[in-house]
Amino acid sequence: MIDAATATEPTTTARGLRITGAATATPTALPRARSRRPLPRGLTAGLFGVGAALPEREIDNQHFADRLDTSDEWIVRRTGIRTRRWLAEGEPLAPLAAEACVAALADAGRSADEVDHVIVTTITPDRVTPGLAPEVARLIGAHGASAVDVNAACAGFLYGLDQAAALVETGRARVVLVCGAEALSRLTDTEDRGTAVLFGDGAGAVVVAAGELDRGVARFVLGCDPEQGDLLYADNEDRKLRMEGREVYRHAVARMTEATTQALEASGLGVDDLDLFVAHQANSRIIESAANELGVPHEKLAINVDRVANTSSASIPLALAQAERDGLLQPGATVALAAFGAGFVWGAGIVSWKERQYVCA
Ligand code: UT7
Repeated sequence: MIDAATATEPTTTARGLRITGAATATPTALPRARSRRPLPRGLTAGLFGVGAALPEREIDNQHFADRLDTSDEWIVRRTGIRTRRWLAEGEPLAPLAAEACVAALADAGRSADEVDHVIVTTITPDRVTPGLAPEVARLIGAHGASAVDVNAACAGFLYGLDQAAALVETGRARVVLVCGAEALSRLTDTEDRGTAVLFGDGAGAVVVAAGELDRGVARFVLGCDPEQGDLLYADNEDRKLRMEGREVYRHAVARMTEATTQALEASGLGVDDLDLFVAHQANSRIIESAANELGVPHEKLAINVDRVANTSSASIPLALAQAERDGLLQPGATVALAAFGAGFVWGAGIVSWKERQYVCA
């Protein structure tokens, strides 16, 4: 924590982010823990702001066609991916995550010192320990917040969102940042055409807080099948993502379809009630197959895998931010979220999008 007496003046990072304290400051002035009173009845957790950040460096499909036995035509036809962003060699992920969080807070009209808890979902923290979340809290100036990393692979954002909603609804936190941040380029085997073309880096964040909401962040359906763990993994020695693509594809469609159906049932809704279906962006064919099985029409699909590739747990908040920019998300919209990843772990949930303009104090 930052000691006001020894903290440096705010500095601006290469990405334009203002950092409000020194990493090496003496830990003498701990901020007071926030009061955690139960919410008044009738309040529920909702989404109030969204932010996204992508690295500068763009890697198009031709990059791989120049180096591997592949082509832009194959990649687009089989995955829908046209381009992706990668961090530069040695570039840290935390500032990118912080940029997404700062944008989400601005969008929600909240300041960093109101944040009680920071959840960063990631499989690629900058260091083994500490995790990414404490560094993100420091970079954005959320000095009173607690902070934790969640690793649930590509389903991480939904697991984080579920935890954030639970914290808010039990009164254990008032304002929670959930940020999916990934640097999958670090785990990509650039020699393997079967996986090299699939992954991208990026960060997306949402602000979860309490409001008088009809739906908010409704209860999620989360699942896990550890028997399938060897179909998609990266181990400590190799540190590269290995995948049985066809099998993972099959499971991804089945689990996301099943979980979304269960989430709709649990919410008392039908597919026709949905304004948008935002699935994990691994492959446009997977998203379209799941949508076909659910009966969601194409115009209600959020797809940005063409621009960012598979960014694991960052993919859903990045897709939400893109969908809003594209005019697909209006305040009050009913949205189904679904994700699937290594573990296998998966989840789905029905949320309302910025259902109210205000956040309860
Ligand atoms: O984020 C976590 C969840 N991840 C996913 O959901 C990913 C799931 N899997 C997929 O998206 C797809 O399975 C892939 C995109 C990975 C592969 O697409 P596919 O249509 O399932 O292809 P495939 O693995 O069945 O391979 C078909 C052919 C093979 O050649 P042969 O054996 O038919 O001669 C592959 O060797 O395509 C070949 N291939 C390629 N060819 C050109 C595989 N990768 C490439 C490539 N360029 N990059």
